Amino acid sequence: AKRVRIHHLLELKGRGEPWPMLTAYDQYTAELFDEAGIPVLLVGDSASNNVYGYETSLPVTVDELIPLVRAVTRSVKRSLVVADLPFGSYQLSPEQALATAVRFMKESQAHAVKLEGGRAFAPHVKALTTAGVPVMGHIGFTPQSEHNLGGYRVQGRGDSGDEVVADALALQEAGAFAVVMEMVPAEVAKRVTYEMKIPTVGIGAGPDCDAQVLVWQDMAGLRRGKAPRFVKRYADMAGVLQGAAEQFANEVRHREFPAPQHVFH
Ligand code: KIV
Ligand code: NA
Repeated sequence: AKRVRIHHLLELKGRGEPWPMLTAYDQYTAELFDEAGIPVLLVGDSASNNVYGYETSLPVTVDELIPLVRAVTRSVKRSLVVADLPFGSYQLSPEQALATAVRFMKESQAHAVKLEGGRAFAPHVKALTTAGVPVMGHIGFTPQSEHNLGGYRVQGRGDSGDEVVADALALQEAGAFAVVMEMVPAEVAKRVTYEMKIPTVGIGAGPDCDAQVLVWQDMAGLRRGKAPRFVKRYADMAGVLQGAAEQFANEVRHREFPAPQHVFH
């Protein structure tokens, strides 16, 4: 199986073939999603609130993310692995962004990095792409700016749709190979997708994006509770795992496990 490269994603856009992206943070999910034919895996800063138990994506650090990215890159044969730059690790300057991206590339063998922000972050993206680091942008609702944006809210409604378009085009101009659009009206996402040469990856951005991404624990129903509108649950992993744990506990308590076939003599 040939590795997925960024030019393959451009070819898919040219052919009008939408593609899936999922997050992954460890060996087994990386292996399974790679074998399932997911061309791009994102080690998101969503590890903050989906692996590390923090409440938002803000607390997670570069030092916490690098080992997860390393586990994922070691475990894929085909998938392109994108490492998310966490809050505080690139916003200070293009130089800081490059230093952080270089750490991910050297210490975790990421194939690309992702960072949040529009026009204001074009210089950061440019610094990375000039140095040879492929960059995926992320605009619309950007979780690292949650407190500045006033919580989880759709971005780009009404006149501010033009801002989303301008952000996307600035990232493309700076050399980004793709742009995530999170929680923007489908009409705006469609416009951006048509105006851009590079692929758009939607999450809560309607059906016309070139790709769709979900956090795997949302997609597989491992995370419980109320999910955002854009999430579809394709499995009930929470139910399956909890049921297995309860059955194991029950069998131990009743001395049904281990059975003769599990025992050495
Ligand atoms: O961190 C993440 O999981 C993301 C995706 C939702 C795009 O940024
Ligand atoms: Na993220």
